[in-house]
Amino acid sequence: MKKSIIKSTGMFVPPNVITNHDLEKMIDTSDEWIKQRTGIEQRYWIDGETGASDLGFEASKIALENAGWTAQDLDFIIFATLSPDIMFPGSGCLLQAKLGLDSTPALDIRQQCTGFLYGLATADAYIKSGLASKILLVGGEVHSSGLDKTTRGRDITVIFGDGAAAVCIEGVETDKQAGVLSSALHADGNLASALMTELPASRLPIRLPRDISLDDPRYFPVMDGPAIFKKAVRMLPKVIKESLEKAQISLDEIDLIIPHQANMRINQALGQFLKLDDNKIFHNIQKYGNTTAASIPIALHEAMEQGLIGKSGDVVLFTGLGAGLTWGSVIYKFL
Ligand code: ACO
Repeated sequence: MKKSIIKSTGMFVPPNVITNHDLEKMIDTSDEWIKQRTGIEQRYWIDGETGASDLGFEASKIALENAGWTAQDLDFIIFATLSPDIMFPGSGCLLQAKLGLDSTPALDIRQQCTGFLYGLATADAYIKSGLASKILLVGGEVHSSGLDKTTRGRDITVIFGDGAAAVCIEGVETDKQAGVLSSALHADGNLASALMTELPASRLPIRLPRDISLDDPRYFPVMDGPAIFKKAVRMLPKVIKESLEKAQISLDEIDLIIPHQANMRINQALGQFLKLDDNKIFHNIQKYGNTTAASIPIALHEAMEQGLIGKSGDVVLFTGLGAGLTWGSVIYKFL
């Protein structure tokens, strides 16, 4: 059977660095609070008109070059984002056109922080079913243009960053145990309101209500941070265990855990719960903040560049929880 093999990665963040001190000038917050509660020191925000597909395009060019592929080699594109460039069509279609293509199928995934996990599981299913063999999986977000940059929105505004990463995935015929070994995905829509942006809403008679001020909090993301924090600390170990059982491997066989970068404290708590050495969990939230669908592939790109993983036989476990709520874990073994 064909295995889903990561051929290459690429990442891109916009050039505009926003430090915690920059945020202190905007809202009532402090570098100390942000670092202590989240681990974040800086993030990148776009400057001017830039969509998720623009960031994704830059990351894709790097991933394609690293794979030795051209865009014409692709037979499927998956774009994970919660911040599409426009209401519709999806950022996957916009990216496809930017890549100079005009008929390659493009699918958008709206799974927020687990977008990469759902995307990787989808790519694996497409490859194993024979529907595709050369897939570009992209996670890209532009949060900064939709944040409440007043003290009212400070809990969320300080955590989100913009960025994108792309992964080229190829179906390779091999008897070796390699590629995506297991995926465990979950969602609980009953908790949708724990993290959401409500407007514009197609369920309303008028999607952009004219009588509502543009300062209305419903136009901005709102989050019950402590509830999500507790849920993450409870659910991530469970879903990791589920994915290990599905793959029939033990935690000791995992070389590196790459969690979604939502909060350094969530990932440290995860490490303590699993009794892991500090170097077994990858952190880069200090540089990028929470880039949502881009966070796991950006971390994958950096972990590979740093030589932490990527050798034949290395096993990496991706995991995360976010809006939806959605959570999951995917285990991957390098060929
Ligand atoms: N600066 C200063 N003070 C702040 C800030 C800020 N940026 N934000 C909140 N505070 C204040 C609050 O007002 C509160 O003050 P009070 O005690 O006077 O009422 C105090 O700090 C504590 O607030 P909490 O919300 O309890 O702070 P907490 O330690 O929980 O940290 C945070 C907040 C960072 C948001 C945390 O709850 C968290 O990371 N939650 C999980 C987020 C997550 O994983 N989201 C899912 C992924 S995102 C996605 O899916 C798109």
